[in-house]
Amino acid sequence: MISKTSKVGIIGAGNVGADVANALVLLGRCVRVVLFDRTLSKAEGQVWDIEDSIPLLKEMEIIPSNQYEDLADSDIIIIVTAGVQPKLGQTRLDTLSDNAEIIRSTIKELDRVAPNSIVIIISNPVDVLTRIAQATSTRAENLIFGSGTVLDTARLRYQLGKQLNVAKQDIHAYVIGEHGDSQFVVWSSAFIGGILLTEFPIPQGATLEQIQQEYAQLTRKRGYNIFERKGYTSYGISTVVCQLVDTILRDEKQIFPVSTRADSNYGVGSEVVLGLPCIIGSTGIERQLLLSRNALEQRLLEESANKLNEAYNFLHN
Ligand code: LAC
Repeated sequence: MISKTSKVGIIGAGNVGADVANALVLLGRCVRVVLFDRTLSKAEGQVWDIEDSIPLLKEMEIIPSNQYEDLADSDIIIIVTAGVQPKLGQTRLDTLSDNAEIIRSTIKELDRVAPNSIVIIISNPVDVLTRIAQATSTRAENLIFGSGTVLDTARLRYQLGKQLNVAKQDIHAYVIGEHGDSQFVVWSSAFIGGILLTEFPIPQGATLEQIQQEYAQLTRKRGYNIFERKGYTSYGISTVVCQLVDTILRDEKQIFPVSTRADSNYGVGSEVVLGLPCIIGSTGIERQLLLSRNALEQRLLEESANKLNEAYNFLHN
């Protein structure tokens, strides 16, 4: 059961932060939400709008704030504060230098007021920002991770489920690596209800290679296609946050491909942070799992890792 005191802080009351707060409220994931923004009136506007729904839902509290101290004792803190989201034609990595400084200063404040909370970063570029946050923070590494390729994996499952006419929940296929252009699907270990995808009956007229190519591309482009049409994405990532919060508060130990420092067994060193499947429970990342991959997938992982290392090192030189 959700603990009586479950408290979740959200930093950043823009569109995405507010949608995360609203989703947590609608889905009844915690009893107290603090929506923090440097501009109090912005947090107030969002909170007052959201709290109108509380009498129609479960009893809970949502608090607007511009004081970091209000985040003390949070079980989980979500960092949404994006200085900037990618503009049309930009990738998520193009927003790096603007957002790196914001992450560093935010983490320093959180280390001061809430040193034991689990911190989940969703600002982009999420992998590099998570690495910066881990390097800045005094908290143990299992307590600080990014949303990684959880959303990309959900996007893949949704589209593939539609195509194969199978419930999305029964599609066990992971998108790993960068939450960005160098992400890839680990097709060699994709299962549909216990059957390897390579052995699953696919619709007539299509080949497995076509399906793999088309759906990997669709997944990679999905965020951009939404950015182009509405300027930002928020509902998908809000649900990702709700699921991560839930598995932590209930200690469910669900597996999600979050941004974390790669285990050295992945063969990409032990510094780079990218989306890899992990068991998530009440202590944050409880264990990182080693997905088997073929030679092509290993090369793609190395390319994704190189790209993220370059971005991180560029900032530190
Ligand atoms: C997306 C944002 C969260 O992919 O990066 O929707």
